[in-house]
Amino acid sequence: MSNSIYAQRRSRVAASLGRDGIAVIPTAPEQPRNRDSDFLYRHDSYFYYLTGFDEPNATLVITGDGSSTLFCAPKDLEREIWDGYRLGPEAAPAALGVNTAHSTAELDARMPKLLENRDAVWYPFAIHEGLEGRVAGWLAAVRARVRYGALCPEQQRDLCAVLDEMRLVKDAHEQDIMRRAGQISARGHIRAMKLSALMLRDGRDVREYHLDAELLHEFRMGGSEYPAYSSIVAAGANACVLHYRAGATPVRDGELVLIDAGCELEGYASDITRTFPANGRFSGPQRALYELVLASQEAAIAVTRAGARFTDPHDATVKVLAQGMLDLGLLDANQVGNVQDVIEKRAYFQFYMHRTGHWLGMDVHDCGSYVEPSQVGEVSERKDPLSGELIKNRPSRILRPGMVLTIEPGIYVRPAPNVPDRFHNIGIRIEDDAIVGDTGCELVSRGVPVRPDEIEALMRG
Ligand code: GLY
Ligand code: MN
Ligand code: MN
Repeated sequence: MSNSIYAQRRSRVAASLGRDGIAVIPTAPEQPRNRDSDFLYRHDSYFYYLTGFDEPNATLVITGDGSSTLFCAPKDLEREIWDGYRLGPEAAPAALGVNTAHSTAELDARMPKLLENRDAVWYPFAIHEGLEGRVAGWLAAVRARVRYGALCPEQQRDLCAVLDEMRLVKDAHEQDIMRRAGQISARGHIRAMKLSALMLRDGRDVREYHLDAELLHEFRMGGSEYPAYSSIVAAGANACVLHYRAGATPVRDGELVLIDAGCELEGYASDITRTFPANGRFSGPQRALYELVLASQEAAIAVTRAGARFTDPHDATVKVLAQGMLDLGLLDANQVGNVQDVIEKRAYFQFYMHRTGHWLGMDVHDCGSYVEPSQVGEVSERKDPLSGELIKNRPSRILRPGMVLTIEPGIYVRPAPNVPDRFHNIGIRIEDDAIVGDTGCELVSRGVPVRPDEIEALMRG
């Protein structure tokens, strides 16, 4: 993205701070993995959103008058020989469009001066370990100077509230990246589906990790930096474990495979789930449940548009799933009643225990309030039918063009005495990524087929 986009975002933040406010936004620290190896570095999403800068050891400071200061790692030839190129503070203003830059080593010495005579200091609360204490240290240093006439900020405020609202609606550049991320991820899913059928046809020992390798291959070949989250590749009964990772379980003829995987591209996540027959042919019970989940997803997609509430797709999903569970005999009407009872008593929860979606963006479970800001004061109470707990409800967020969310219904059938054997251990989820538009939504993840016939045709080929 061009620097002007980051500069515009910094200006919007500055305008929210008030003239005498100041904001401090660190990036993420490096994370040790074992001994002297670190995990692959991932920048902080808020910091990157405002700078486009992906080096560690950096902090951005924005003041209410619109000026920005970057603290970043200084040039150091010896460290750069070992760890790689650093931009350095001398080059940062021209490269990133910030007004001033200094070495990160100077942060503690310079911050008290920057905080002097400000009324409020803003930073992301409860994200950066130790930041609250560090801010307190800077404020203490300012206070030591008040007898010389300096004013010390009287307020500390959470910058997440400002940045979350900004990040919730994706601009045209962000939408373009997310479309491309969806296309790359879709190709990864296609590749994994094909390999599963091919290896089984050849009588080879297929494992979940073989399919995981196909995903990664396609992500990296497509220019993605890494998966946006730990890929789930779940064969057979593993699909009923919601946060299963790709393991070593054999992928068996006759079972389903659930893959939930998406690449991260230029800092943006995609998040796709497909469930397919390992050998390329659905059995009768597998297809029946699959078609139910797909119908519930279609119902959710049909109500996803600007003006709808965030919860509308979930409610549409639940209606279809609840009716289908009764029709297919997963739920016994003699015990649970009609579809309305299933919904009210949440009887469907035995087989569908998660929500139908979440915001998607720089983080796979992206930031942004799920409550409509103009209605936060409208609180109602209801009793949870399963736990008996009293729950406070606020009106759900009204969708606007440019918001991006996942639509991901599922059914997970763990063996139980009240459940027909033919459905035991089947786990199905179908997940697509939707950009909200005025009259509907654009699914950016449909480069991989979702209809059972199309999946079977793809896997035959
Ligand atoms: N992959 C995480 C999720 O679907 O929410
Ligand atoms: Mn998801
Ligand atoms: Mn997912």
